[in-house]
Amino acid sequence: MSNLDTPENAMWRAKARKVADEVLRPLAKKYDELQEYPWEIRDALAEAGLMGAWISPDYGGKAGDTPVLDLCIIVEEIAKADPAIGVLFAVNALGSFPIIVGGTEEQKKRFLPPIARGEKLCAFCLSEKTAGSDAQGLKVRAIAKGEDTWTIHGEKKWTTNGGAADFYTVFAVTDPTSRSRRISAFIVEKDMPGFSIGKVEDKMGIRAVPVVETVFDGVEVRKSHLLGGRAGHGFKHAMATLDRARPGVAAQGMGCAQGALDLATVYSQKRIQFGKPISSFQMVQQMLANMATKTEAARQLVYSCARKIDAGLPNTTKVAAMAKLFATDVAMEVTTDAVQIFGGYGFMRDYPIEKFMRDAKITQIYEGTNQVQRIVVARGILKEADALSHLEEFVPSEEQMIYEED
Ligand code: CAA
Repeated sequence: MSNLDTPENAMWRAKARKVADEVLRPLAKKYDELQEYPWEIRDALAEAGLMGAWISPDYGGKAGDTPVLDLCIIVEEIAKADPAIGVLFAVNALGSFPIIVGGTEEQKKRFLPPIARGEKLCAFCLSEKTAGSDAQGLKVRAIAKGEDTWTIHGEKKWTTNGGAADFYTVFAVTDPTSRSRRISAFIVEKDMPGFSIGKVEDKMGIRAVPVVETVFDGVEVRKSHLLGGRAGHGFKHAMATLDRARPGVAAQGMGCAQGALDLATVYSQKRIQFGKPISSFQMVQQMLANMATKTEAARQLVYSCARKIDAGLPNTTKVAAMAKLFATDVAMEVTTDAVQIFGGYGFMRDYPIEKFMRDAKITQIYEGTNQVQRIVVARGILKEADALSHLEEFVPSEEQMIYEED
Protein backbone atom coordinates (compact mmCIF):
# COMPACT_ATOMS: atom_id res chain seq x y z
CA MET A 1 0.00 0.00 0.00
CA SER A 2 1.42 3.33 -1.00
CA ASN A 3 0.91 5.88 1.75
CA LEU A 4 1.42 8.59 -0.93
CA ASP A 5 -1.99 7.77 -2.44
CA THR A 6 -4.21 10.80 -2.99
CA PRO A 7 -7.83 10.38 -1.83
CA GLU A 8 -8.72 9.57 -5.44
CA ASN A 9 -5.95 6.95 -5.77
CA ALA A 10 -7.01 5.44 -2.42
CA MET A 11 -10.64 5.25 -3.57
CA TRP A 12 -9.71 3.27 -6.74
CA ARG A 13 -7.30 1.06 -4.75
CA ALA A 14 -9.97 0.20 -2.16
CA LYS A 15 -12.60 -0.62 -4.80
CA ALA A 16 -10.19 -2.82 -6.77
CA ARG A 17 -8.88 -4.59 -3.67
CA LYS A 18 -12.43 -5.42 -2.52
CA VAL A 19 -13.35 -7.08 -5.84
CA ALA A 20 -9.94 -8.78 -5.96
CA ASP A 21 -10.33 -10.32 -2.50
CA GLU A 22 -14.02 -11.14 -2.69
CA VAL A 23 -14.42 -12.27 -6.31
CA LEU A 24 -11.14 -12.72 -8.18
CA ARG A 25 -8.97 -14.75 -5.82
CA PRO A 26 -11.68 -17.40 -5.22
CA LEU A 27 -12.33 -17.75 -8.99
CA ALA A 28 -8.72 -17.73 -10.21
CA LYS A 29 -8.27 -21.51 -10.36
CA LYS A 30 -11.63 -22.08 -12.07
CA TYR A 31 -10.83 -19.85 -15.06
CA ASP A 32 -7.21 -21.00 -15.25
CA GLU A 33 -8.56 -24.53 -15.76
CA LEU A 34 -11.50 -23.57 -18.00
CA GLN A 35 -9.48 -21.18 -20.20
CA GLU A 36 -12.66 -19.25 -20.96
CA TYR A 37 -13.50 -15.57 -20.76
CA PRO A 38 -14.80 -14.98 -17.18
CA TRP A 39 -18.00 -13.03 -17.81
CA GLU A 40 -18.97 -13.12 -14.11
CA ILE A 41 -15.68 -11.34 -13.35
CA ARG A 42 -16.29 -8.75 -16.08
CA ASP A 43 -19.71 -8.13 -14.45
CA ALA A 44 -18.15 -7.75 -10.97
CA LEU A 45 -15.56 -5.28 -12.30
CA ALA A 46 -18.29 -3.30 -14.07
CA GLU A 47 -20.56 -3.32 -11.01
CA ALA A 48 -17.70 -1.97 -8.91
CA GLY A 49 -17.51 0.94 -11.37
CA LEU A 50 -13.93 0.16 -12.38
CA MET A 51 -14.39 -0.05 -16.16
CA GLY A 52 -14.47 3.69 -16.79
CA ALA A 53 -11.59 4.60 -14.46
CA TRP A 54 -9.31 5.79 -17.30
CA ILE A 55 -11.98 7.36 -19.53
CA SER A 56 -12.82 11.07 -19.28
CA PRO A 57 -16.25 12.05 -17.88
CA ASP A 58 -16.74 13.85 -21.25
CA TYR A 59 -17.12 10.37 -22.74
CA GLY A 60 -19.04 8.66 -19.94
CA GLY A 61 -16.05 7.63 -17.82
CA LYS A 62 -15.02 8.38 -14.26
CA ALA A 63 -11.40 9.44 -14.78
CA GLY A 64 -10.10 12.00 -12.32
CA ASP A 65 -6.84 13.97 -12.36
CA THR A 66 -4.54 10.92 -12.63
CA PRO A 67 -6.18 8.39 -14.97
CA VAL A 68 -2.99 6.50 -15.89
CA LEU A 69 -1.87 6.19 -12.25
CA ASP A 70 -5.37 5.11 -11.17
CA LEU A 71 -5.43 2.50 -13.95
CA CYS A 72 -2.04 1.20 -12.74
CA ILE A 73 -3.26 1.04 -9.13
CA ILE A 74 -6.37 -0.90 -10.15
CA VAL A 75 -4.34 -3.33 -12.29
CA GLU A 76 -1.81 -3.77 -9.44
CA GLU A 77 -4.54 -4.67 -6.92
CA ILE A 78 -6.25 -7.04 -9.36
CA ALA A 79 -2.96 -8.73 -10.39
CA LYS A 80 -2.05 -9.35 -6.73
CA ALA A 81 -5.08 -11.67 -6.56
CA ASP A 82 -5.04 -12.99 -10.14
CA PRO A 83 -2.45 -11.73 -12.67
CA ALA A 84 -4.57 -13.05 -15.57
CA ILE A 85 -7.38 -10.67 -14.64
CA GLY A 86 -4.76 -7.91 -14.40
CA VAL A 87 -4.22 -8.25 -18.15
CA LEU A 88 -7.93 -8.75 -18.81
CA PHE A 89 -8.42 -5.28 -17.34
CA ALA A 90 -5.28 -3.65 -18.80
CA VAL A 91 -5.83 -4.97 -22.32
CA ASN A 92 -9.34 -3.52 -22.42
CA ALA A 93 -7.78 -0.13 -21.64
CA LEU A 94 -5.15 -0.80 -24.34
CA GLY A 95 -7.96 -1.45 -26.85
CA SER A 96 -9.56 1.89 -25.99
CA PHE A 97 -6.35 3.97 -26.06
CA PRO A 98 -6.15 4.33 -29.87
CA ILE A 99 -9.59 6.01 -29.74
CA ILE A 100 -8.54 8.17 -26.77
CA VAL A 101 -5.22 9.27 -28.31
CA GLY A 102 -6.19 9.39 -31.97
CA GLY A 103 -9.97 9.23 -32.43
CA THR A 104 -12.15 12.05 -33.76
CA GLU A 105 -14.60 13.70 -31.36
CA GLU A 106 -17.39 11.75 -33.04
CA GLN A 107 -15.53 8.43 -32.59
CA LYS A 108 -14.86 9.19 -28.91
CA LYS A 109 -18.55 10.05 -28.30
CA ARG A 110 -19.70 6.91 -30.09
CA PHE A 111 -17.28 4.23 -28.87
CA LEU A 112 -16.01 5.29 -25.43
CA PRO A 113 -19.25 5.52 -23.34
CA PRO A 114 -20.23 1.83 -23.72
CA ILE A 115 -16.63 0.85 -22.87
CA ALA A 116 -16.75 3.08 -19.78
CA ARG A 117 -20.01 1.44 -18.67
CA GLY A 118 -18.41 -2.00 -19.08
CA GLU A 119 -21.01 -2.97 -21.70
CA LYS A 120 -18.51 -3.25 -24.56
CA LEU A 121 -14.99 -4.64 -24.55
CA CYS A 122 -12.19 -3.85 -26.94
CA ALA A 123 -9.02 -5.31 -28.39
CA PHE A 124 -5.89 -4.09 -30.15
CA CYS A 125 -4.95 -5.78 -33.44
CA LEU A 126 -1.37 -4.87 -34.34
CA SER A 127 0.71 -8.10 -34.38
CA GLU A 128 0.70 -10.54 -37.27
CA LYS A 129 2.38 -13.90 -37.94
CA THR A 130 5.32 -12.14 -39.60
CA ALA A 131 5.13 -8.77 -37.80
CA GLY A 132 5.68 -8.92 -34.03
CA SER A 133 8.57 -6.77 -32.82
CA ASP A 134 8.81 -5.30 -36.34
CA ALA A 135 5.46 -3.56 -36.05
CA GLN A 136 5.96 -1.66 -39.34
CA GLY A 137 6.21 -4.92 -41.28
CA LEU A 138 2.44 -5.45 -41.45
CA LYS A 139 0.85 -7.38 -44.32
CA VAL A 140 -2.86 -6.89 -43.53
CA ARG A 141 -4.16 -4.58 -46.26
CA ALA A 142 -6.97 -2.03 -46.28
CA ILE A 143 -7.78 -1.28 -49.91
CA ALA A 144 -9.56 1.97 -50.76
CA LYS A 145 -12.91 1.65 -52.57
CA GLY A 146 -13.68 5.18 -53.68
CA GLU A 147 -13.24 8.20 -51.40
CA ASP A 148 -14.46 6.96 -48.05
CA THR A 149 -14.61 3.16 -47.95
CA TRP A 150 -11.90 0.52 -47.41
CA THR A 151 -11.96 -3.27 -47.41
CA ILE A 152 -9.65 -5.02 -44.94
CA HIS A 153 -7.98 -8.31 -45.92
CA GLY A 154 -5.68 -10.55 -43.88
CA GLU A 155 -5.12 -12.05 -40.45
CA LYS A 156 -3.91 -10.71 -37.12
CA LYS A 157 -2.13 -12.81 -34.51
CA TRP A 158 -2.14 -12.72 -30.67
CA THR A 159 -5.30 -10.64 -30.34
CA THR A 160 -5.79 -10.57 -26.56
CA ASN A 161 -9.50 -10.26 -25.59
CA GLY A 162 -10.38 -11.46 -29.10
CA GLY A 163 -13.78 -13.11 -29.30
CA ALA A 164 -14.94 -11.41 -26.09
CA ALA A 165 -14.36 -7.91 -27.51
CA ASP A 166 -16.93 -5.87 -29.41
CA PHE A 167 -14.53 -3.27 -30.92
CA TYR A 168 -11.15 -4.05 -32.54
CA THR A 169 -8.62 -1.38 -33.49
CA VAL A 170 -6.98 -2.84 -36.57
CA PHE A 171 -3.73 -1.57 -38.06
CA ALA A 172 -3.52 -2.15 -41.82
CA VAL A 173 -1.41 -1.06 -44.80
CA THR A 174 -3.24 1.55 -46.86
CA ASP A 175 -0.28 2.88 -48.88
CA PRO A 176 2.40 0.23 -49.53
CA THR A 177 4.51 2.75 -51.50
CA SER A 178 4.89 5.20 -48.61
CA ARG A 179 7.59 4.92 -45.92
CA SER A 180 6.08 7.10 -43.21
CA ARG A 181 2.36 7.04 -44.18
CA ARG A 182 2.05 3.33 -44.95
CA ILE A 183 -0.30 2.28 -42.15
CA SER A 184 -3.79 3.37 -41.05
CA ALA A 185 -5.93 2.31 -38.10
CA PHE A 186 -9.59 1.26 -38.31
CA ILE A 187 -12.23 0.46 -35.71
CA VAL A 188 -13.85 -2.84 -36.65
CA GLU A 189 -17.04 -3.94 -34.90
CA LYS A 190 -17.46 -7.64 -34.19
CA ASP A 191 -20.64 -8.08 -36.26
CA MET A 192 -19.23 -6.49 -39.44
CA PRO A 193 -19.47 -8.97 -42.36
CA GLY A 194 -16.12 -10.63 -43.11
CA PHE A 195 -14.80 -10.43 -39.55
CA SER A 196 -14.26 -13.70 -37.68
CA ILE A 197 -12.19 -15.34 -34.99
CA GLY A 198 -9.61 -17.89 -36.17
CA LYS A 199 -7.39 -20.09 -34.02
CA VAL A 200 -7.97 -19.82 -30.28
CA GLU A 201 -4.60 -20.24 -28.56
CA ASP A 202 -3.94 -22.77 -25.76
CA LYS A 203 -1.67 -20.87 -23.38
CA MET A 204 0.89 -21.44 -20.62
CA GLY A 205 -0.48 -18.59 -18.49
CA ILE A 206 -3.11 -15.79 -18.41
CA ARG A 207 -5.56 -18.52 -19.36
CA ALA A 208 -8.68 -16.57 -18.30
CA VAL A 209 -8.11 -14.13 -21.17
CA PRO A 210 -8.60 -15.31 -24.75
CA VAL A 211 -5.73 -14.83 -27.21
CA VAL A 212 -6.84 -15.54 -30.77
CA GLU A 213 -6.20 -14.98 -34.45
CA THR A 214 -8.57 -12.44 -35.96
CA VAL A 215 -9.58 -12.82 -39.61
CA PHE A 216 -10.55 -9.98 -41.95
CA ASP A 217 -12.08 -11.32 -45.13
CA GLY A 218 -12.96 -8.17 -47.05
CA VAL A 219 -14.37 -6.33 -44.01
CA GLU A 220 -15.85 -3.10 -45.37
CA VAL A 221 -15.27 -0.01 -43.24
CA ARG A 222 -16.42 3.57 -43.84
CA LYS A 223 -14.56 6.76 -42.99
CA SER A 224 -16.51 6.94 -39.72
CA HIS A 225 -14.35 3.97 -38.61
CA LEU A 226 -10.99 5.28 -39.89
CA LEU A 227 -9.19 6.30 -36.70
CA GLY A 228 -8.83 10.07 -36.53
CA GLY A 229 -10.55 10.34 -39.94
CA ARG A 230 -7.14 10.42 -41.65
CA ALA A 231 -5.26 7.68 -43.48
CA GLY A 232 -1.51 7.17 -43.01
CA HIS A 233 -1.24 7.95 -39.28
CA GLY A 234 -1.70 4.39 -38.00
CA PHE A 235 1.88 3.63 -36.95
CA LYS A 236 2.15 6.79 -34.86
CA HIS A 237 -1.24 6.02 -33.27
CA ALA A 238 0.01 2.50 -32.45
CA MET A 239 3.20 3.80 -30.86
CA ALA A 240 1.41 6.55 -28.89
CA THR A 241 -1.08 3.92 -27.68
CA LEU A 242 1.71 1.64 -26.46
CA ASP A 243 3.39 4.56 -24.64
CA ARG A 244 0.18 4.94 -22.63
CA ALA A 245 -0.55 1.23 -22.23
CA ARG A 246 2.88 -0.14 -21.25
CA PRO A 247 2.61 1.24 -17.68
CA GLY A 248 -0.52 -0.94 -17.30
CA VAL A 249 1.43 -4.09 -18.20
CA ALA A 250 4.18 -2.91 -15.87
CA ALA A 251 1.55 -2.63 -13.10
CA GLN A 252 0.35 -6.14 -13.94
CA GLY A 253 3.94 -7.42 -13.50
CA MET A 254 4.47 -5.49 -10.29
CA GLY A 255 1.12 -6.66 -8.82
CA CYS A 256 1.93 -10.24 -9.86
CA ALA A 257 5.30 -9.97 -8.04
CA GLN A 258 3.63 -8.55 -4.92
CA GLY A 259 0.97 -11.27 -4.89
CA ALA A 260 3.63 -14.01 -5.13
CA LEU A 261 5.78 -12.35 -2.45
CA ASP A 262 2.78 -12.14 -0.09
CA LEU A 263 2.05 -15.85 -0.51
CA ALA A 264 5.75 -16.77 -0.04
CA THR A 265 5.91 -14.64 3.12
CA VAL A 266 2.89 -16.39 4.65
CA TYR A 267 4.16 -19.85 3.66
CA SER A 268 7.69 -19.23 4.97
CA GLN A 269 6.29 -18.54 8.46
CA LYS A 270 4.19 -21.72 8.50
CA ARG A 271 6.66 -24.18 7.00
CA ILE A 272 8.70 -25.86 9.75
CA GLN A 273 12.05 -27.47 8.91
CA PHE A 274 14.86 -28.36 11.31
CA GLY A 275 12.41 -27.45 14.08
CA LYS A 276 11.94 -23.83 12.98
CA PRO A 277 9.87 -21.83 10.47
CA ILE A 278 11.93 -21.46 7.27
CA SER A 279 11.44 -17.67 7.57
CA SER A 280 13.98 -17.76 10.41
CA PHE A 281 16.75 -18.95 8.04
CA GLN A 282 18.94 -16.22 6.62
CA MET A 283 18.98 -17.71 3.12
CA VAL A 284 15.18 -17.47 2.99
CA GLN A 285 15.29 -14.00 4.56
CA GLN A 286 17.75 -12.89 1.89
CA MET A 287 15.38 -14.14 -0.83
CA LEU A 288 12.40 -12.35 0.75
CA ALA A 289 14.42 -9.14 1.18
CA ASN A 290 15.57 -9.16 -2.47
CA MET A 291 12.06 -9.95 -3.72
CA ALA A 292 10.51 -7.15 -1.65
CA THR A 293 13.18 -4.61 -2.64
CA LYS A 294 12.83 -5.32 -6.36
CA THR A 295 9.02 -5.23 -6.15
CA GLU A 296 9.07 -1.87 -4.34
CA ALA A 297 11.55 -0.46 -6.89
CA ALA A 298 9.22 -1.61 -9.68
CA ARG A 299 6.25 0.00 -7.91
CA GLN A 300 7.99 3.36 -7.62
CA LEU A 301 9.07 3.29 -11.29
CA VAL A 302 5.53 2.41 -12.42
CA TYR A 303 3.97 5.17 -10.29
CA SER A 304 6.51 7.80 -11.32
CA CYS A 305 6.04 6.91 -15.00
CA ALA A 306 2.24 7.10 -14.65
CA ARG A 307 2.47 10.46 -12.84
CA LYS A 308 4.64 11.87 -15.67
CA ILE A 309 2.12 10.77 -18.30
CA ASP A 310 -0.79 12.17 -16.25
CA ALA A 311 1.08 15.49 -15.87
CA GLY A 312 1.35 15.68 -19.67
CA LEU A 313 5.16 15.74 -19.65
CA PRO A 314 6.71 15.29 -23.11
CA ASN A 315 8.89 12.32 -24.10
CA THR A 316 7.43 9.69 -21.79
CA THR A 317 8.18 6.93 -24.32
CA LYS A 318 11.49 6.07 -22.62
CA VAL A 319 10.13 5.92 -19.06
CA ALA A 320 7.11 3.83 -20.14
CA ALA A 321 9.51 1.31 -21.72
CA MET A 322 11.72 1.36 -18.58
CA ALA A 323 8.72 0.67 -16.33
CA LYS A 324 7.48 -2.16 -18.56
CA LEU A 325 10.82 -3.90 -18.85
CA PHE A 326 11.86 -3.50 -15.21
CA ALA A 327 8.54 -4.42 -13.57
CA THR A 328 7.94 -7.44 -15.79
CA ASP A 329 11.51 -8.76 -15.38
CA VAL A 330 10.94 -8.37 -11.62
CA ALA A 331 7.66 -10.31 -11.97
CA MET A 332 9.50 -13.26 -13.53
CA GLU A 333 12.32 -13.21 -10.96
CA VAL A 334 10.08 -12.80 -7.91
CA THR A 335 7.51 -15.40 -8.93
CA THR A 336 10.31 -17.90 -9.70
CA ASP A 337 11.85 -17.29 -6.25
CA ALA A 338 8.41 -17.56 -4.63
CA VAL A 339 7.97 -21.03 -6.16
CA GLN A 340 11.47 -21.90 -4.86
CA ILE A 341 10.50 -20.86 -1.32
CA PHE A 342 7.40 -23.07 -1.55
CA GLY A 343 9.64 -26.02 -2.51
CA GLY A 344 7.73 -29.11 -3.72
CA TYR A 345 4.38 -27.49 -2.84
CA GLY A 346 5.26 -24.62 -5.18
CA PHE A 347 5.54 -26.96 -8.15
CA MET A 348 2.10 -28.51 -7.60
CA ARG A 349 -1.13 -27.21 -9.08
CA ASP A 350 -2.86 -27.54 -5.68
CA TYR A 351 -1.76 -24.01 -4.72
CA PRO A 352 -1.94 -20.76 -6.70
CA ILE A 353 1.77 -19.91 -6.51
CA GLU A 354 2.77 -21.84 -9.67
CA LYS A 355 0.12 -19.90 -11.60
CA PHE A 356 1.80 -16.61 -10.67
CA MET A 357 5.00 -17.87 -12.32
CA ARG A 358 3.14 -19.04 -15.46
CA ASP A 359 1.21 -15.77 -15.66
CA ALA A 360 4.38 -13.70 -15.21
CA LYS A 361 6.20 -15.05 -18.29
CA ILE A 362 4.03 -13.40 -20.94
CA THR A 363 4.47 -9.95 -19.36
CA GLN A 364 8.09 -10.01 -20.61
CA ILE A 365 6.82 -10.72 -24.14
CA TYR A 366 3.62 -8.83 -24.95
CA GLU A 367 3.15 -5.10 -25.56
CA GLY A 368 6.71 -5.20 -26.92
CA THR A 369 9.28 -7.75 -25.79
CA ASN A 370 11.68 -6.58 -23.11
CA GLN A 371 14.38 -6.65 -25.79
CA VAL A 372 12.33 -4.09 -27.77
CA GLN A 373 11.87 -2.02 -24.60
CA ARG A 374 15.67 -1.86 -24.22
CA ILE A 375 15.94 -0.62 -27.82
CA VAL A 376 13.37 2.08 -27.04
CA VAL A 377 15.20 3.08 -23.82
CA ALA A 378 18.59 3.21 -25.56
CA ARG A 379 17.17 5.32 -28.41
CA GLY A 380 15.66 7.67 -25.81
CA ILE A 381 18.99 8.05 -23.97
CA LEU A 382 20.88 8.75 -27.21
CA LYS A 383 18.21 11.23 -28.39
CA GLU A 384 18.67 13.22 -25.17
CA ALA A 385 22.49 13.07 -25.33
CA ASP A 386 22.82 16.66 -26.68
CA ALA A 387 22.03 17.86 -23.14
CA LEU A 388 25.29 16.19 -22.04
CA SER A 389 27.61 18.15 -24.40
CA HIS A 390 29.09 20.02 -21.38
CA LEU A 391 30.69 16.70 -20.35
CA GLU A 392 32.65 16.28 -23.60
CA GLU A 393 35.86 17.77 -22.16
CA PHE A 394 35.90 15.02 -19.51
CA VAL A 395 36.11 12.14 -22.01
CA PRO A 396 38.92 11.45 -24.52
CA SER A 397 38.57 13.57 -27.67
CA GLU A 398 38.06 12.00 -31.08
CA GLU A 399 41.66 13.05 -32.00
CA GLN A 400 43.05 11.20 -28.99
CA MET A 401 41.30 8.03 -30.07
CA ILE A 402 42.64 7.66 -33.65
CA TYR A 403 45.85 5.96 -34.77
CA GLU A 404 48.52 8.24 -36.26
CA GLU A 405 48.51 6.29 -39.56
CA ASP A 406 44.72 6.79 -39.92
N1 CAA B 1 5.16 8.00 -30.49
C1 CAA B 1 4.87 8.59 -31.67
N2 CAA B 1 5.55 8.32 -32.82
C2 CAA B 1 6.53 7.40 -32.76
C3 CAA B 1 6.86 6.73 -31.56
C4 CAA B 1 6.13 7.07 -30.38
N3 CAA B 1 6.41 6.48 -29.21
N4 CAA B 1 7.87 5.86 -31.80
C5 CAA B 1 8.16 5.98 -33.11
N5 CAA B 1 7.35 6.90 -33.69
C6 CAA B 1 7.38 7.36 -35.08
C7 CAA B 1 8.78 7.84 -35.43
O1 CAA B 1 8.94 9.21 -35.11
C8 CAA B 1 8.84 7.60 -36.92
O2 CAA B 1 8.18 8.66 -37.59
P1 CAA B 1 8.71 9.23 -39.03
O3 CAA B 1 8.55 8.07 -39.97
O4 CAA B 1 7.78 10.35 -39.31
O5 CAA B 1 10.13 9.59 -38.81
C9 CAA B 1 8.01 6.35 -37.11
O6 CAA B 1 7.14 6.27 -35.97
C10 CAA B 1 8.86 5.10 -37.21
O7 CAA B 1 9.65 5.01 -36.01
P2 CAA B 1 10.92 4.08 -35.88
O8 CAA B 1 11.82 4.31 -37.06
O9 CAA B 1 11.49 4.25 -34.52
O10 CAA B 1 10.27 2.63 -36.02
P3 CAA B 1 10.94 1.20 -36.05
O11 CAA B 1 10.43 0.44 -37.21
O12 CAA B 1 12.41 1.31 -35.84
O13 CAA B 1 10.22 0.47 -34.77
C11 CAA B 1 9.95 -0.24 -32.51
C12 CAA B 1 10.40 0.85 -33.50
C13 CAA B 1 10.17 0.42 -31.17
C14 CAA B 1 10.81 -1.50 -32.60
C15 CAA B 1 8.45 -0.57 -32.71
O14 CAA B 1 8.24 -1.28 -33.92
C16 CAA B 1 7.87 -1.38 -31.56
O15 CAA B 1 7.48 -0.82 -30.53
N6 CAA B 1 7.77 -2.71 -31.73
C17 CAA B 1 7.09 -3.56 -30.75
C18 CAA B 1 5.64 -3.71 -31.13
C19 CAA B 1 4.80 -4.04 -29.94
O16 CAA B 1 4.96 -3.51 -28.85
N7 CAA B 1 3.82 -4.92 -30.17
C20 CAA B 1 2.94 -5.28 -29.12
C21 CAA B 1 1.61 -5.59 -29.69
S1 CAA B 1 0.29 -5.24 -28.60
C22 CAA B 1 0.20 -6.52 -27.51
O17 CAA B 1 1.10 -7.28 -27.29
C23 CAA B 1 -1.08 -6.54 -26.77
C24 CAA B 1 -1.39 -7.73 -26.06
O18 CAA B 1 -1.58 -8.80 -26.60
C25 CAA B 1 -1.53 -7.66 -24.58
